[in-house]
Formats: sequence, C-alpha cells, structure tokens
Amino acid sequence: MKIAILGFGTVGEGVYKILTESKDLYQSRFGQSIEIEKILVHNVAKKRDIKEANQIITDNFEEILQDPNIELIVEVTSSKNQAIEYIRKSLMAGKHVVSANKAAIAVDFKELQKIAIQQNVHFKFEASVAGGIPVLSSLGRLIAFNDISLLHGIINSSTNYVLTEICKGRDETEVIAEARELGILEANPTDDIAGFDARRKLAILAMMILQIEISEQSIPSFGITQVDSRDSEILNKLGYEIKLIAELLNGEKSGLKEKQIALSVFPTALNNSKFNRVNGMMNEVTFNGSYCGELRFYGAGGSMYPTANAIVSDIYETITNKPLYFPVKENQYENISDQIESSFYIRIPDSLMVNEDLNNEIIEMAEKILLAKKEVIIFSKPISNQKAVELFERGLHVIRLNNKIK
Ligand SMILES: NC(=O)c1ccc[n+]([C@@H]2O[C@H](COP(=O)([O-])OP(=O)(O)OC[C@H]3O[C@@H](n4cnc5c(N)ncnc54)[C@H](OP(=O)(O)O)[C@@H]3O)[C@@H](O)[C@H]2O)c1
Repeated sequence: MKIAILGFGTVGEGVYKILTESKDLYQSRFGQSIEIEKILVHNVAKKRDIKEANQIITDNFEEILQDPNIELIVEVTSSKNQAIEYIRKSLMAGKHVVSANKAAIAVDFKELQKIAIQQNVHFKFEASVAGGIPVLSSLGRLIAFNDISLLHGIINSSTNYVLTEICKGRDETEVIAEARELGILEANPTDDIAGFDARRKLAILAMMILQIEISEQSIPSFGITQVDSRDSEILNKLGYEIKLIAELLNGEKSGLKEKQIALSVFPTALNNSKFNRVNGMMNEVTFNGSYCGELRFYGAGGSMYPTANAIVSDIYETITNKPLYFPVKENQYENISDQIESSFYIRIPDSLMVNEDLNNEIIEMAEKILLAKKEVIIFSKPISNQKAVELFERGLHVIRLNNKIK
C-alpha cells in the first residue's frame, strides 16, 4: 500500500522510522509492503535529520490528494483548522485516514465519521488519546455489545509529570520551568496545564462510547493552574495524592439515573487508588463494561515511538480489517455534568485572604474545616461541578475529593 505522511515532526518522523526500519520484517511476515510516497510539511526549506526523506517532501497537499496511488493518509500535523481540511478532503477522495490530531478530531468528530461512512474508508485515531496505549481500538470492539458505565483516565502526560513532582514536595514554578526545558511542556503550556488537552480527549472517548455529539467546551473542567505544593502537602498528610482525572459516568451502574450522563476533568485528590501509582509521563485509562467488567490500560501517554507505534498499528488494521465507525446519533441522554455534586477541597490563597465575605462564604460550605485562621482550608459539603468551576474561576484552589475511584 502507498501512503503519505502529513507532518514530519516528532510523530511523523517516528512513523517514518518505524515503517522503514521494520520494512523487511513486515514484508516477510505479510508478503506485502507499505511505501511512503510523499511527506507534507509546512516549511520545505527546514533542515531535516532524516536526509533520505528530502526527495519526497512537499508543501503541496493537492499533489498528494490528486495522486490515485496514495491510498492512505497519515495526518500528524500540528495544525488544527488546516488538519480538519486535510482529513476531510482525503476521506472525500476515498483515501483511508489515520490521525493523531486530537484538536481536529474533537472539533469535527460527527462530520468526519459521516464522510468516512459515506466513502466506505477507514478513519482511525488511536494515537489521539493516551498516545501509545491501545484504548480506542479496544473500546471500539467492546462497545458493539458492552454498555460502558464508567470511565476514568489520566490522559495528559505533562500535567501528570508536574503533579508527580509537586507531590515530592517540589515547588510548582520550578517544576513547570523544568518541564518546559525538558520539552515535556510546550513554550505555551496553557493547553495542557489548563486541562484543555485532557478535556478534548475525554470528548473523543465520550463521542465513541455514547455516540452523541459532545463539545469540549460543554465539559465542566479546570486543570492544575491553581494547584500548588502547599495543596499537595496538606492533602498528602491526609493520605491523598492529586491527579488530573477525566471522568465519564453513564447510567445506573455509575450511581446516576438511567440515561443520565456526567463528564468532567478536575484535579482530584485520590485516596487508596491504583491511579496513585501512575507517575511521570505515564497514562492510565480504566473503564467498566457490562460484560467485560473492569479493564485497565496503562502505558506511555505520548512521545515519538509510543505515539508512532499507535499510528502504525492503525495502518496495519486498515490494511487487514474492515472499517469500524462511530456514527453520531440523536441525543437520548440527560447530561447532568454541571449539576452532579461531590465534595471538594477548597483553599483560599493568601492573595484573597483579606476578603472576609469570601472567607465566610467558604466556611459555610464546609463539611470539615481543616484550617480557619491564617489560612482557610475546607473539605466542602457536596457542591455541583458548576459551582466548583465558578469557585476556581474566582481564584480559589479547588480539588475534587474522591475516595471511590479505584
Ligand atoms: N508528540 C506527541 O507525543 C504526540 C502524542 C499524541 C498526539 N500528538 C499529536 O500529533 C500531531 C503531531 O505532533 P508532533 O509532536 O509530531 O508535532 P511537531 O513535532 O510540532 O510537528 C508538526 C509537523 O506538522 C507540520 N505542519 C504544521 N502545520 C502544517 C500545515 N498547515 N500543513 C502541513 N504541515 C504542517 C510541521 O511542518 P514543519 O516541519 O515544516 O514545521 C511539522 O513537520 C499533533 O496533532 C499532536 O497533537 C502528538
């Protein structure tokens, strides 16, 4: 099969290396080959480490689109709007698409599924959620006959790295600076730190599982911008560890009513949970299905080879299997993501301590007051996700408390 790779950065180069290094093995095992015909980049003049690739590099997408020999497109650019166009046009042209681009997929999931079904081509995106872990392909097979009632995940590696280091007692500013230097966080780390990346991955998972349209923005969430070493110190002493947890609850087995769903992404203080051993750049996703029971998926959440391996696995499945689709249907659920209630750790930072009205308001919410003089720190009575987001937006340190997530 002849393919093209759109994007030749970390992931694109990884795909190139795996496909060229494993060429003979693949040929001897399966009697066929995967040939890279073209590579699309933004800047053709850029110096590349892989010199042999220079002969097939182009910045002309139409050249790839119009080539009838290219049957499959690997979309691994860092663009969002243009990537949507690349994926859409490739599917429309009857080419299979494998992508890692969560930003593009989360925005246009419904439409892209529709086009793939119409054109009877594969549209696969394993690498877009939890990098190297085969979560989506497993879910894709299981949802045909399993009702997924519960999903929890640590699905952002950079924030997990930062939280792991803060938990060791290190200062958050120092950890974030180090993470930037190591390339774990991008120069502009907002997408990760503010929880946007985890939220869009949860939207993709939820659209696959529930087969309804879910916008990223509709998921109550905040990231770890207001979690610091002081919060970690207090919660650690009480036996908790803080993790950024994406959650999907669905129906009675998850504690809601039938046909009710609730999604969220919050920093969460976990007590006695298996997620507490998921440290550094690792990810874990766990879900409960009606017949498969609880399944846990643990592995590298990103970086060159784990992500490229997920892409190459998708290419292999495209060649060997029938397409699997996730058509978005009419909504039959009551989405109570904003209203669902739970207890939160709430701390008023020093900068807001002078505000007496705020102090009283927070103390009134307390189920348990941890400190009330120099600092106000409480465990709240159950409050709604919407209220938690509002308190976060007012500058408070807000961390969900959860003793149930195993
Ligand atoms: N890195 C990971 O661990 C990881 C994990 C999971 C998913 N992903 C996703 O995989 C995708 C690629 O990530 P990456 O880390 O490989 O990014 P990257 O290293 O920044 O590389 C991006 C590549 O895309 C090209 N590009 C950017 N805009 C383009 C456009 N409009 N048209 C054509 N090419 C364009 C760039 O061209 P130039 O080389 O000319 O600049 C570059 O080769 C992203 O969607 C990312 O979210 C990455």
